[in-house]
Amino acid sequence: MRDDHMTLAAFATASTSQRAAGSWLHAASDARVLDAEHYVNMAREVERLGFDLLYFDDRLAMPATYRRSHQEAVRRGTRVIKLDLLSILALVSAHTTRIGLGATYSTTYYEPYHVARAFATLDHLSKGRAVWNIVTSLNADEAANFGVGQLDPATRYDRADEFLEVVTGLWETWEKDALKMDRTTETFADAKMVHELNYAGQYLSSKGPLTVPRPPQGWPVLMQAGQSGRGMEFAGRWADLVFTPSASIEQSKRKYAAQTEQFERHGRAAGAARILPAVSVVAGETEGVAREKDAYLRAVQDPGEALIILSEVAGVDLSAFAMDEPLPDDFLDLAPGSRSILQRHVERVRQLHGPTATLRDLLEMEEVGAMGVRFVGDPQQVVDQMSEWFTEYACDGFAVHLTVVPGSFEDFGRLVIPELRRRNLVPPPGSSAATGAHLRDRIGLPDRTLR
Ligand SMILES: Cc1cc2nc3c(=O)[nH]c(=O)nc-3n(C[C@H](O)[C@H](O)[C@H](O)COP(=O)(O)O)c2cc1C
Repeated sequence: MRDDHMTLAAFATASTSQRAAGSWLHAASDARVLDAEHYVNMAREVERLGFDLLYFDDRLAMPATYRRSHQEAVRRGTRVIKLDLLSILALVSAHTTRIGLGATYSTTYYEPYHVARAFATLDHLSKGRAVWNIVTSLNADEAANFGVGQLDPATRYDRADEFLEVVTGLWETWEKDALKMDRTTETFADAKMVHELNYAGQYLSSKGPLTVPRPPQGWPVLMQAGQSGRGMEFAGRWADLVFTPSASIEQSKRKYAAQTEQFERHGRAAGAARILPAVSVVAGETEGVAREKDAYLRAVQDPGEALIILSEVAGVDLSAFAMDEPLPDDFLDLAPGSRSILQRHVERVRQLHGPTATLRDLLEMEEVGAMGVRFVGDPQQVVDQMSEWFTEYACDGFAVHLTVVPGSFEDFGRLVIPELRRRNLVPPPGSSAATGAHLRDRIGLPDRTLR
């Protein structure tokens, strides 16, 4: 038995599609994504239910790979709205007190000084609750929006390593307690404790010091999701939380073991970071109610939307492929975006349908419409599965994918969390784990600062 608790992240998107294709049409969905209230209500509710953090994914372009146009995506509302996340989280921080607040920011299109400053600011405003979900970004439309060429995946990760060296270095340009603000001695700050960084790398350089004092957490919590070998190595060095899209407990156990090896290679102790697979939970008072909810959710899912999203993620226009012919052998080689995401889907569909699996088979798989596995059932059945994944080291918690906001997390809070508490899989409310000074303390992550 494990003596730690699960980490629970609520995984959301500042967009009408809550990743599950078509979900904005769902009757229990609040689609007012341009209203401040939408985010404040979501965050308060997620905090009240006992989640450890709320984080948002992002993309820096509309999906426009499918048919080489954004039009179909706009017509359907497929992730065409993406609001700036740090503005949302700054707002939300004023209306919450405990929940971790995570934003996806790109190492490929942003500049490290800007990112270091923005997350340090959020960490101060939220009193130590900032989480940066680090992405290297995916497709050519994002590069085009920033007016630059698309870097190849290996170069994106090399740049990302330097990016993290700069950002974490800038966070430490103010030593701990350098800021005095002491009126009696008229000492604003100890100048000997504020340093230049003078970083000069192959891709990036920065002089420093940062114009924001050291963040309350030292380093805000770092999250990452890359799935290739290079992505896992990057996570091994940098990530406190790893977000994975596993399709089964076996696949997740293999990934857990491989990622743990990467932590060890970077001299990081067991338990120094936490691995959180994405999961969609459809819970009901009885199994029958849960199955009905699941059927409704599937009924509003739009395979056309899944086609647009998959084209975007893989960087390949899937309108060029026949829906009912076997996928070509070189299908994977055609993906310049996230090859690892496409590979996972192709492996899974061939497992389910054999070597003649078609594009239609692939689009109808539930994990293409909604990321990760789906646990459907009454509270006992859902928690049995979550508990099996946790106790067998397939994960250290879950990124609970909010398929329908607010409907799906109301169900989760009302039905699943009480059962998780009853089995001591999450801490009871008010325990020391729930009340540590910063998010890092509360979820058992070590201090990462170097000085
Ligand atoms: C589960 C998962 C979630 C991701 N979420 C985002 C995201 O929100 N925004 C983004 O730009 N990239 C996202 N990515 C892309 C990664 O940052 C990375 O660029 C991509 O997966 C390619 O790296 P890899 O081949 O190591 O997986 C995600 C990837 C995975 C696997």
